Amino acid sequence: MNRWDHARQLLRIGRRAETGERLPVEPFRASSGAPGPRSVRCRSLCIASGKGGTGKSSLTAAVADILRLKGKTLLLDADLGCANAHIFHDVHPERSFADVVAGDRAVHEIVTPCSDGLDLLPGGSGVGRLAGLREYELEMIGRGLGRIEAGYEFLLVDSAAGLSRQTVAFAAACDRTVLVTTPDVTAMTDAYAFLKVFVRQCAAAGVPRELPLLVVNRATSDQEARDVGDRLREVTRKFLDQRLEVLGWIPDDRAVFRCTQRRRSVVSGEPESAVAQALEQIVARLLDQLQEREGLGAGWRLEEMSTGPRATRRA
Ligand SMILES: Nc1ncnc2c1ncn2[C@@H]1O[C@H](COP(=O)(O)OP(=O)(O)OP(=O)(O)O)[C@@H](O)[C@H]1O
Ligand SMILES: [Mg+2]
Repeated sequence: MNRWDHARQLLRIGRRAETGERLPVEPFRASSGAPGPRSVRCRSLCIASGKGGTGKSSLTAAVADILRLKGKTLLLDADLGCANAHIFHDVHPERSFADVVAGDRAVHEIVTPCSDGLDLLPGGSGVGRLAGLREYELEMIGRGLGRIEAGYEFLLVDSAAGLSRQTVAFAAACDRTVLVTTPDVTAMTDAYAFLKVFVRQCAAAGVPRELPLLVVNRATSDQEARDVGDRLREVTRKFLDQRLEVLGWIPDDRAVFRCTQRRRSVVSGEPESAVAQALEQIVARLLDQLQEREGLGAGWRLEEMSTGPRATRRA
């Protein structure tokens, strides 16, 4: 069986044959033509960074706790194989993308309820192969996501660190991406590297996207955050000829650590903290940005990012 046949089989079957139980998911539409938005209204947002440990998961968890009060939210843990989004919502998922990639479950079968208005697609833990999915596996995830995202108001993606094709594909699949850096020069360097790869990968896939919005995390003053924003804005203008927008900054605050230890986001654990207050303001600005345009989800774009435009592939 070649890998596309394998993909088709995974798309058709909810559970693996060896369980003796075949649960057909929605019918697979072979060669249905180019993927498209199919009237999705879900607004999708990815939180990414070049360097690891900048605070993506802590911030995503807090943003999820803000968004779920505004509309039904689906949190996708795209740190596949090293997932920890579930920790901040104190759930213990039985299924994850590891089961989807193994062909044991369809995407809709791993949806894990977290709290009122918030569901999680768990990333799976300790499965190294998930960090480097094959293109048909990413396409399969995109297609499965496309089937459920219209049932949500918001899709929030907690990205893995780094510049892998898969990581950048998740970011580029969303309506908007937030790029997190800290004032650390290594984090800033990697943030710029992310922007560069993001722009290139989107252009190569024929899916032009808006540049990510910058958030400076763990800043110790307004001036420090401003300096970080100015420096990144300047290199982006000079070398990518694009305007980088700074969405805001978040103070360095031990509250984040305390809440994580209690398996809570800082918004639910310490809503009065400076971090939670800063996040409320950042999310308000983000919602303004998202509401300016139609919500197109992320599933169909993930399909497209993983395969390239169909017309090109056929050519
Ligand atoms: N604003 C903040 N103030 C203080 N500590 C913070 C802040 N944001 C994040 N941290 C701390 O930084 C560390 C890394 O956070 P987190 O796991 O959210 O980063 P990440 O970018 O998701 O990491 P990875 O790249 O490994 O997925 C944690 O110890 C967290 O408590
Ligand atoms: Mg993380």
